[in-house]
Parts: sequence; structure tokens; C-alpha cells
Amino acid sequence: MDTLLLKGKPVAEHIRQELTERIQGLKADGITPNLAAIIVGGDPASKVYVKNKARAFEKMDCDSRTYHLDKNASENEVLDLIHELNQNMEVHGILVQLPLPRHLDSKKILHTVSPQKDVDGFHPENLGLLLEGNPKFIPCTPHGILEILKYYNIPVSGRHAVIVGRSNIVGKPMFALLAQKFEMGNATVTICHTGTKDLDMHTKQADIIIAAAGSPKMIRGDMVKEGVDIIDVGINRIENDSEKGYALVGDVDTDSVMGIARSVTPVPGGVGPMTITMLLVNTVIAAENMKEFAVISH
Ligand code: GUN
Repeated sequence: MDTLLLKGKPVAEHIRQELTERIQGLKADGITPNLAAIIVGGDPASKVYVKNKARAFEKMDCDSRTYHLDKNASENEVLDLIHELNQNMEVHGILVQLPLPRHLDSKKILHTVSPQKDVDGFHPENLGLLLEGNPKFIPCTPHGILEILKYYNIPVSGRHAVIVGRSNIVGKPMFALLAQKFEMGNATVTICHTGTKDLDMHTKQADIIIAAAGSPKMIRGDMVKEGVDIIDVGINRIENDSEKGYALVGDVDTDSVMGIARSVTPVPGGVGPMTITMLLVNTVIAAENMKEFAVISH
């Protein structure tokens, strides 16, 4: 079987094209979608993400500002900044880059972001709306995965999706979305994690695998059935002798699934380009909602 590589770039470009019109509409009313990103400390991967976000916003004629706080910043410093950004009418979206240093209470910090500006969709109010089937902001990576499935016409309804990994960022919201009775859902969903006894038994039954465990090359060809569609969310740095000093590999051993899977997302170049695009989408939604609110309250 020829295995199709599900590249993220054409999907991202397609969505950005649609978004351009909405951004122009906002600009005509004097509104430029604006994201505030907070990064605490100097985790190299986080710095790269935040820099890429800033570049993507600039390319789309949107504003973004990154607040770099020291790795020893106190919880109050972070909370004060979030309160200030919540009040700032020129800021539409707020993102707190994860992971945060261990001395900070991530939950308390994420709960402080205004649900109206929570473009990551991590606030419990937004997670509740997602679970209810009425989302305001869909978390960016799961949303990007749905867009990849849609773009490449991968059927979801009635199929068995196995998610590997139960993170709040990917696994749990992905479960809520794929199980939901809507166009890109209505699947039977299994969620596997470190407590799962026989992972192979589950992955071998999957029609769709979402690999989001953060464990390099853990899903191999001998663990999947012929014709499976695989979404690889992992971005793991493996040290090597190259100039960069590392290579990026996914949670899937891509070479070993070639010829068995019907499709697989490459790493890099699969899910990665989608996450920032969906952040743009959510920031535009936040700006549109604020505009509507301003009209209603006048
Ligand atoms: N760290 C890794 N992925 C994400 C994400 O989607 N949002 C935030 N805020 N931090 C992350």
C-alpha cells in the first residue's frame, strides 16, 4: 500500500487564505488582531515556538507582542501581567507558553486568563464548552489535526480512533472532539496512556491513531493494522552529531509504518505548521467577538 504523507503546509495555506479576508474586514473597522504571548524562562523549544508565532502573525498583518519574564519570576508577577492584559482592550488573545517553570502553579495561571481572550482554549470554562459541544476556542493542536483530516478527506465518523497520550493540550481535547457528534467526529474513541496495560492490542485495532505521548518513535509498523491513518503529534529532540546537534523525530517510527499505513503526518512538516495557524484563527475569533461585544454595548 502506498502511504500518503499528510503535509500540514497546504492545509495551513488554505486556512490562512480564508483568514485574510476576515482580517481585512476587521482592519476596515480599525481593529488589528493582537496576541500577547507570555514566556517565563528560556526553554529553547518554547523560545522557538514563540518566535515562530511572532513571525506568522507579522506575515498575516496581525500584531503580537511577546513578554519575556525571568525564569525566577514570581507567581504574582505573572498574575499581575495577565490581569493587566485581560483589561487591555487592544489585546485580543493571551497565550501563556507551556511548560512553565516548576515553582509556578500552571493551573492558577491558566485560570486567570480571561475566557474571552483564552486563544489556547485551556481555561476550564472553554474546556467545559468544548466538552458540551459548543466550543468558543478549540485548542490549537487538536483543531489543526481536525483540519488535516478534513483537508485530506480522511473519514472519521464510525471509525475507531485511538489516542495515545492524555495531555490537557492534545489528548483530552482530542478525545472530546473526535467523540462529538459532528462532521469531523462521531468516532469510537479509545484513549491510551502510561497506565494502559497492552498498548499494541489497542493500536492494532485503530482505524485512526493520534500519537501524542511525547515518546520518540514509540508507534512502530508492527503495532498498527494495514490501512490505518496516523497523526503524529510528537516533536522530540534527539541529540546527534549534526551541525544543529539534534534531529526532530515524532512519536511514530515513520519508516516502519510506510507501506502499512494509508497515511501519516511527517515530522517536521505535519501537525507543526497547523498549530500556529489555528492560533491565528482563534485570535481572529477573539477580535471578532470583542468587536461584536463593543457594538452591542454601545
Ligand atoms: N506548549 C506546547 N504546545 C503548546 C500550546 O499549544 N500552547 C501553549 N500555550 N503552550 C504550548
